[in-house]
Amino acid sequence: RLLNLLVLGILSFCLAFPVWAGDQDLLSRARRYFEPLPEKPPALKGNPLNPYKIELGKMLYFDPRLSASHLISCNTCHNLSLAGVDIQETSTGHMWQRGPRNAPTVLNSVFNTAQFWDGRAKDLEEQAKGPVQASVEMSNTPERVVATLKSIPEYVELFRKAFPGEKDPVTFDNVAKAIEAFEATLLTPNSPFDRFLKGDLRALTAEEKEGLRLFMEKGCANCHNGINVGGGMYAPFGVVERPGADILPPGDKGRFAVTKTASDEYVFKVPSLRNIALTYPYFHSGKVWSLEDAVSIMGSAQLGADLSPEEVRKIVAFLKTLTGKQPEIVLPILPPSTDRTPRPIL
Ligand code: HEM
Ligand code: HEM
Repeated sequence: RLLNLLVLGILSFCLAFPVWAGDQDLLSRARRYFEPLPEKPPALKGNPLNPYKIELGKMLYFDPRLSASHLISCNTCHNLSLAGVDIQETSTGHMWQRGPRNAPTVLNSVFNTAQFWDGRAKDLEEQAKGPVQASVEMSNTPERVVATLKSIPEYVELFRKAFPGEKDPVTFDNVAKAIEAFEATLLTPNSPFDRFLKGDLRALTAEEKEGLRLFMEKGCANCHNGINVGGGMYAPFGVVERPGADILPPGDKGRFAVTKTASDEYVFKVPSLRNIALTYPYFHSGKVWSLEDAVSIMGSAQLGADLSPEEVRKIVAFLKTLTGKQPEIVLPILPPSTDRTPRPIL
């Protein structure tokens, strides 16, 4: 009996060992490219976090009075019930104007090295000032935003608490700082892939592991890597083969508009692929609705690789493991306007 048990034990060890060793090898390769998403926000340059600032930032994020019309908040286009996007091809802003690009998610965006598809803002503080003023987004002015907030006593009090020691804390700069502080808390940790990276070899299925292996071997991970599985570098859309105008409209030359350097034509920020299953439609043009199609286009455009349907399926299975725990947000109740609050413009 004992001998039987021993033989059985050795046999199952021999059978399981190659799988275990293969998984260990996959994990150590993955650790060279990726890092698990931290559960806590990182320290922000020149913007120390405190609970009042985060709460204020949340209120501002949800407050449509940051827009000229009092209809559009950050949450309109970066809907936190929808993984921080608006699920539109390109966003609609002030007076139903259609913007030129797809809205990227705000989730985990604090870990991107630059903001916007073309990286024209260096951090979330600089970024937040853009949409408030953009005529196709919130179409407001810094002066009007400050006048609006100063007309509401509860806001003035909260700015005081969030920016202690400042003489005149209700400023446009501090609006951006508070929003940045709130955005830094919008993290989606503990996805199956994060659990795998932390050493739980059973966090991914066999198919998802195959997808991860392909993602590294085919070369996707050369661009989509780091904490955000992207968000850390720029690359031309169409390194090997430029997609057609239906996917890459010729009018938007990406980073070229920022640097005016010919080699930056059609160069875009490599986007983070975290929560990618939730942030359709895809690409800066928002022209591609299926993740399978997006993966297959990446294969031919970026790698010159004709991925088989099976390879695409496996890679997509892996990409779905990048969906993490969505932030749970208690909807802020916003203080009412007063007689001094500028009226909506529409
Ligand atoms: C880009 C935050 C309002 C549409 C971004 C990004 C962030 C952000 C962090 C960059 C993400 C990345 O590059 O990974 C905010 C905040 C807002 C706000 C804090 C409120 C103050 C809006 C509104 C709209 C909008 C109201 C729609 C009308 C977009 C679009 C982009 C973008 C289309 C991409 C633009 C480009 O790359 O050129 N936003 N957003 N955002 N947002 Fe917003
Ligand atoms: C966009 C996956 C290879 C650079 C995307 C998107 C996905 C994806 C799903 C859409 C993201 C979104 O809309 O939010 C993959 C896969 C790859 C791969 C599965 C391997 C088969 C690469 C490589 C590079 C790269 C090798 C760099 C040379 C980019 C860029 C974009 C992008 C620049 C943004 C394109 C745009 O909209 O302008 N990738 N990618 N990707 N990827 Fe990849």
